[in-house]
Amino acid sequence: MTLSRADCVALDDADPLKRFRDEFVLPDGTIYLVGNSLGAPPRTAAAATADVVREWERRLVGGWNSGWFDLPLTVGDRLAPLIGVGPGQVAVGESTSITVVKAVSAALSLRPERRVVVSDPTNFPTDRYMVEGLVKALGGYQVRDIGDLGDALSDDVACVLLSEVDYRTGDRYDTAEVTARVQAAGALMIWDLCHSVGAFPVDMSAADFAIGCTYKYLNGGPGSPAFVYVHPRHQAGAEQLLTGWYSHAAPFAFEPGYRPAEGIQRFTVSTPHVLSYAPLNAALDMWEQVDMTQVRAKSVALTSLFIDLVEELCAPHGLTLVSSRDPERRGSQVSFSHPDGYPIVRALTDRGVHGDFRAPDILRFGFAPLYIGFADVHDAAVTLAEVLEKEHWRDERYRRRLAVT
Ligand SMILES: Cc1ncc(COP(=O)(O)O)c(C=O)c1O
Repeated sequence: MTLSRADCVALDDADPLKRFRDEFVLPDGTIYLVGNSLGAPPRTAAAATADVVREWERRLVGGWNSGWFDLPLTVGDRLAPLIGVGPGQVAVGESTSITVVKAVSAALSLRPERRVVVSDPTNFPTDRYMVEGLVKALGGYQVRDIGDLGDALSDDVACVLLSEVDYRTGDRYDTAEVTARVQAAGALMIWDLCHSVGAFPVDMSAADFAIGCTYKYLNGGPGSPAFVYVHPRHQAGAEQLLTGWYSHAAPFAFEPGYRPAEGIQRFTVSTPHVLSYAPLNAALDMWEQVDMTQVRAKSVALTSLFIDLVEELCAPHGLTLVSSRDPERRGSQVSFSHPDGYPIVRALTDRGVHGDFRAPDILRFGFAPLYIGFADVHDAAVTLAEVLEKEHWRDERYRRRLAVT
């Protein structure tokens, strides 16, 4: 039996994470199920950003010696616990696409005799595009589709790049198991954690590299800087392709030749986008108070409830569950397919329930446990049922595709 709205309200009252809902700015009447695309704004983000502008006014260029220069590493150390690793192992900067190049080029430098990069054709396209561009520029390498992992892992594989959570289906790999198999085959494992960090506890301590964005479940703001994790055993030996001056051993010596820095500094590139770190730092102040096991428990409960309610209330209307039914194999996202997925999502958003659409036919719903409650899940499922029942989505204006879906 699925829960009634009153049951859901009772669950929200008993929720150990409920105080975090007030830490976010969301318009009244909005159920924001798009935190897997762009997280909600922390209440402190605007002031934190204004503070950095004030600092710029006050210190002018002196700001660089008052913390700005070190932002990639200091923010990396703040983020590290969220992916289960220690200080000096994470650099924050640039975008996820750029960190793909950093991690894959570094992995290739550690396995010079191996010439294959394995990736999943269903991975978020930028990961694949960046790898293809990289191997084309380097010459002599090949990208192989994962297919069956056992078959893909021949002795010419240098590294494997996978997203822990699939951006379309929300399905999740067993990172410990896959990492162990890849390493047993002599290759290096690189995880894309865009849909993992901030969604559930992550432990990358056995992985070789990890990358990810900070603007989804971490709520770092639109275009906030990405991160790269490099296991300490690789930091001295790996050479990444993007040898910008920040990654030099002595940037202010302005030497004519390149010498890589020691440690994680080697995985930075260039002048940090100082203002973009401000909302991320504000979000990390909040994450320091969050118990990730509570986040995961609530995420499993929210996603399971949503599946149950949608299947019960929307049964006659042709939605098919795409995500795994097993919560162990799911991230914090639930996806359904429907041939009219796009207009359905638009009609739903117009009624206050924000989801998104991924071609060709997937409706995605992300559940950020810090600001989504059980009553929200109930109301979202009821609204979806109404949109389908009353065929609101047939309105012509919902068929016109916006640039960002
Ligand atoms: C798995 C994955 N990788 C990468 C990206 C985006 O990369 P970038 O931040 O460079 O645009 C996304 C965006 O949704 C993603 O889901």
